[in-house]
Amino acid sequence: AIEQRITELLGQMTIQEKAGQLTQYSGRELTGPASTRKTDLLNQIRGGQVGSMLNVKGVTDTRAIQAEALKSRLHIPLLFGLDVIHGYQTVFPVPLAEAASWDMAAIRQSAHVAAREAAASGIHWTFAPMVDVGRDPRWGRVMEGAGEDSYLGSQIARARVLGFQGDKLGGTDAVMACAKHFVAYGAAIAGRDYNAVDLSPQQLWEVYLPPFKAAVDAGAATFMNSFNTLNGVPATGSKYLQRDILKGQWQYPGFVVSDWGSIREMVSWGYAQNVSEAAQKAITAGNDMDMENDAYFDALPQLVQQGKVDVALVDDAVRRILRKKFELGLFDDPYKFSDAKREKKVFSDPQHRVAARDVARKSMVLLKNERNTLPLSSPRKIALIGPLAKAKRDLAGGWTVIADTTRIVSALEGIRQRAGKNASVLYAKGCEATGDSRAGFAQAVETARQADVIVLCVGETWDMSGEAKSRADISLPGVQQELFQALKATGKPIVAVVFAGRPLIFNAVADQADAILYAWFPGSEGGHALADVLFGDYNPAGKLPSTFPRLMGQIPLSYQQYSTGRPVVDPQNIRYRSAYIDAPNTPRYAFGHGLSYTTFRYSDLKVSQPRMTAAETVQVSFTLTNTGSRAGEEVVQLYLRDKVASVVRPLKELKDFQKVSLQPGESRTLTFTITRDKLAFYNNDLQWIAEPGEFRLLLGAASDDIRLEADLVLID
Ligand code: IFM
Repeated sequence: AIEQRITELLGQMTIQEKAGQLTQYSGRELTGPASTRKTDLLNQIRGGQVGSMLNVKGVTDTRAIQAEALKSRLHIPLLFGLDVIHGYQTVFPVPLAEAASWDMAAIRQSAHVAAREAAASGIHWTFAPMVDVGRDPRWGRVMEGAGEDSYLGSQIARARVLGFQGDKLGGTDAVMACAKHFVAYGAAIAGRDYNAVDLSPQQLWEVYLPPFKAAVDAGAATFMNSFNTLNGVPATGSKYLQRDILKGQWQYPGFVVSDWGSIREMVSWGYAQNVSEAAQKAITAGNDMDMENDAYFDALPQLVQQGKVDVALVDDAVRRILRKKFELGLFDDPYKFSDAKREKKVFSDPQHRVAARDVARKSMVLLKNERNTLPLSSPRKIALIGPLAKAKRDLAGGWTVIADTTRIVSALEGIRQRAGKNASVLYAKGCEATGDSRAGFAQAVETARQADVIVLCVGETWDMSGEAKSRADISLPGVQQELFQALKATGKPIVAVVFAGRPLIFNAVADQADAILYAWFPGSEGGHALADVLFGDYNPAGKLPSTFPRLMGQIPLSYQQYSTGRPVVDPQNIRYRSAYIDAPNTPRYAFGHGLSYTTFRYSDLKVSQPRMTAAETVQVSFTLTNTGSRAGEEVVQLYLRDKVASVVRPLKELKDFQKVSLQPGESRTLTFTITRDKLAFYNNDLQWIAEPGEFRLLLGAASDDIRLEADLVLID
C-alpha cells in the first residue's frame, strides 16, 4: 500500500518538487531573527520544495516548521534530522568511551534513551551511529566511533542501530539511524580531517566495510556518505561504493544523504568542473539526498531536461525518501513526534540519569593500579587537583546539541558527595588544560601536601576532539605533565584521571602515577560514575577499544600488526629488523587492555576437535575463575591467526568476545564457536574464502595478554 501511495505522489510531483524532496537545509537560521535566507527558505518549504531540515529541534520549532511544509501543494511532511550522537538532553559518554564498555546491552540502552528524548522533541532522524573504524588518534573524530577494530565495531554498530530505531520504525520512542560516513573516513591520510584516503581493497573489505554491513543487517534506515576520497574518487560521487556495493551487492533499501556540502566539495577536490557536474555525478553514483547545499535543487531539473540525468534515478531517490516518511507514520500524523507533554515527561525521567551513570562507569578503563592504590580505602583527606577536576562542560564532550551542561556532575561534586563526612576533599586547579602558565602549581603542591592521596584530573578540553579537531600532537596538552611532576615530588600517592575524546600520550604520568583511570568524556553523570569507580562501589571492567601509542611516530598503530619478513625476535638486537632505533614497536597500552580490582584465571582450554572442515564448527571452551576477593566483570577476548595464507594475515584478529560477571571464587565454563566464517578473509580476487591450513586460537584478557592458546586445522 505504501508503494502505491508513493507512486501516486511521484506522479503528481514536478521535477522541481522532486529536486526539493532530495534537499535538506540547516534550520539554525529559521528560529533566529528575520533574514533574507530565512524568508527564502520558508517560502521554499511552503512551496513543497524541501524534503528535510537539520538542526531544527524542540516541539515548538519542529511543529511550526512542519506546519509550513503542510501548506504546500502536496502536503508532504518534512523529516527533521539532528546529530544525536551520545545522548540528547541526558548526555552519555562519547561513543569511543562507550565502546570501551564492550557491553552491547548498555550501548543499546544509551542509544535508546537518546532516541526516546530526541523523538519526544520532534526529531525523526539522528546522524548516528558513526561506524567508521578509526586507527589514527590524531583524527579528532575517533571520539565518535567504536575504535580500531572491525569486529567490535560491527557489534557496536548493530547495538546502536537497534537502540536508536527499536524493532520497527514508527514508534514515538525511536528515531531513524544513519550509518556514517560511507566509507573509510577514518583512514584519512595522516589523521587530518577531510583528507584523502588511499586503501588496499583488502583493508576496505575486511576492516572498513564490515561495520557498515552490520548496520545494513540491523536495518539502519539511512546512510551518510563521506567527505573523503577513496583511491581518488570522492565517496559522495562513488558509484562503486553506493550503487555497486551498498545498493547493489547489499540490496540496501534505505536512502543515502550526502555529508554537509560534500556534493559541492567535489568541485574543490578537482573531480567536477562545477556544481552542476557534481550534482550529476552524485545522483548517478547513488547519493539520494543533498545536505545543506543547493546542488540538487539548482541543477537537477536542468540536468534531467538536458537528458544528462535519467529521471528514473531522481524518482528512485525520491521514492526511497518518501518511503521512510511513510514508515515513520508522518503522512498519517506529521506532528506525532512533536508532543509537548511527552517532551516534558521524557526529559525528566530519572531513569535516564541512571542509565547514563551505568554506561559511564562501564566505560572507564583502569590502565594502571600499583600496590592497589585504588579503590580509595577510607582516606581522610583527598587532594583533588587539576584543570578538569571542577569541569562540567568538558565532561560532556563534543556533539552535545541541546544538553543543559550545567546539569553535568563534575568530578569534584561526585567525589565530595561520595566522600561525605568520612573524608575531606581539598581542591586546587593547578593549571589550565592548555597554555603554559604554572602560576597555580605552588598552591596545588601545598594542597597536595595536606592530603593522604592526590586525585589529579587532567586531559583534553571538550572541543579538542570531534569534527575538524585533528591534532598533530596528541600528548597531554599544556603544562599538565609538569603539574604532575610537581605533585609527584611531594611523595604522596597519585591517582591520575584522564578525561579525553581520544587516546592521548602521557608518558611521565604513565611511568610514575600510582594508578591511572581513563575516564574519557563521561557525560551528565560523569562525576558520580567516577566516584563509583574510585571508591570501589563499582569494579571497573572497561577495556581499550583503541591502541594507545607511546610516541607520535608510531602512529598509525593497531594491534593488527603483520609479522614482516624481519620480525623483532630479540628486542635487544634489532639490527636489520622491522623496528625503530629509538622506540619499541609495542604500544603504551594495547587494544583490549583494562584492569579490574579483582583478578581472573583462565584454565582448562578444550577444543572440541583439532581439525575441521568448512562445513563443521568447533567449540572452544575454558574455565574462567574470579581469583580475587571482589565481584567483577571480565571481557574475555578470542583472537585468531591464520598461519600461512595466499594473502599475508595479521598476527592477531579479534573474532569474538564475552563479558562475564563472577563473584569472588566463582568459576564458569565459557564456550566460543569457530565457524568457517571466522577463518575466512578476502583473497586477492576479493573472494571471501577460508583456506585450508593451520590456525592459532588465542584467548586472553587483552591483545597483549593472551592466557591460553591452541592450534586448529582447517581441512579440505
Ligand atoms: O552529521 C554530520 C557529519 O558527521 C559531519 N558533517 C555535518 C553533519 C551534520 O551535522
